[in-house]
Amino acid sequence: MSSPRKIRMGMVGGGPGSMIGPIHRAAANLDGQIELVCGVFSSKPEVSRRLGRELFLATERCYASFEDMMEREAQLSPDERMDFVAVVTPNDLHFPVARLALQHGFHVLSDKPATLNFSEAEQLAQCVKESGLLYGLTYTYAGYPMIKQARDMVREGGLGRVRKVLVEYPQGWLSQAGIEDESKQAEWRLDPARSGASTCVGDIGSHAAHLGEYVTGSAINAICADLGAVVESREMDDDATILLRFENGARGVLIASQICAGEENNLKIRVYGEAGGLEWNHTDPNTLLFKPLDRNAQIIRAGGPEMTPLAAANCRTPGGHPEGYLEAFANHYRNFAGQVRARLENRAPTESEADVPGLPDALRGMRFIESAVKASASEQKWYSLPDIPFLQESTS
Ligand SMILES: NC(=O)c1ccc[n+]([C@@H]2O[C@H](COP(=O)([O-])OP(=O)(O)OC[C@H]3O[C@@H](n4cnc5c(N)ncnc54)[C@H](O)[C@@H]3O)[C@@H](O)[C@H]2O)c1
Repeated sequence: MSSPRKIRMGMVGGGPGSMIGPIHRAAANLDGQIELVCGVFSSKPEVSRRLGRELFLATERCYASFEDMMEREAQLSPDERMDFVAVVTPNDLHFPVARLALQHGFHVLSDKPATLNFSEAEQLAQCVKESGLLYGLTYTYAGYPMIKQARDMVREGGLGRVRKVLVEYPQGWLSQAGIEDESKQAEWRLDPARSGASTCVGDIGSHAAHLGEYVTGSAINAICADLGAVVESREMDDDATILLRFENGARGVLIASQICAGEENNLKIRVYGEAGGLEWNHTDPNTLLFKPLDRNAQIIRAGGPEMTPLAAANCRTPGGHPEGYLEAFANHYRNFAGQVRARLENRAPTESEADVPGLPDALRGMRFIESAVKASASEQKWYSLPDIPFLQESTS
């Protein structure tokens, strides 16, 4: 029997004017499984409190700092306190907030990149292991039903052995010098102390790499990278082209760029095996193209009759009713809340509930970002990504 209450969420970040905070809140609300009970939405307590009031939170649960929030929530009775913390701050705070939340007994659902650097990701892994709590990561695009369909089709052998991955994520919003003086989002993304070693790979290349790994079910283990600041006088990279090699032997190309003037979020992935290819475009996310070698191409649609059970479990409407970004995000929220509920009910999570990017994705993502920067700076053609002992331990 299902536990008779909503899963309680606290939020850190996502204040007025933030990009992703309102999207997280909408996604958390979509399925009626989660209730926002507390938060610290800004580094300015009065701004945080104002938003808390607008969201109808109890005054005493609009906290002045995340430290205060963890301490005071932990003192509340188990019937009242939050179950998990959503982390939607700039990157430099992801690890400090996640660590403190875990230390105080709260599960964590963080936005990406998981941490500021790989060393913090290793520390995070330790904290998660010690706490025994849940950790999820909102790599948004893995939440789309047709991406889950693609993953299933690869896993079920529909393409044969995967040999080529082409993944591209061009944006244009950092095309001009001085954008950091106009845009709050650009300001911290172009500051290495708040963003990490890379702007472009950290911000969107990490999504592309995750998508490639998620769909193929194989990790990237070597790269040849060219990162650069196309806009003059910029310290941080705004453009990246990276050749990939995957553990399963597939080769690939990843393009991530924030200076492709005129582009919005034109993410696209193509995966080719011995027997055919798959293509998915973020601009038409409910369509997956399957191009078999020996038959005509097929269109597979979200909500249609050919969805795998995992894709179907992450779809809400009948075919032809567009689902998109909010629903993909909501899938991660609903599935993560399902994991929390499974703990409350002392049962194993379902396949769909378990299918939220987590700690292995966090570690691989931070390894990829850091390696891309190192590979680009090196004269060596191929750069092998270092082993992650935690991953070996956790799978052995
Ligand atoms: N998954 C995705 O598709 C996706 C998309 C966009 C952004 N992101 C990630 O989400 C995070 C936030 O990005 P954004 O574009 O929304 O940034 P933003 O600058 O728009 O918002 C950041 C928010 O964090 C708040 N904040 C800063 N310091 C704080 C503190 N000490 N305590 C509480 N709140 C604090 C700010 O006041 C602001 O409201 C980043 O890590 C980014 O990489 C992910």
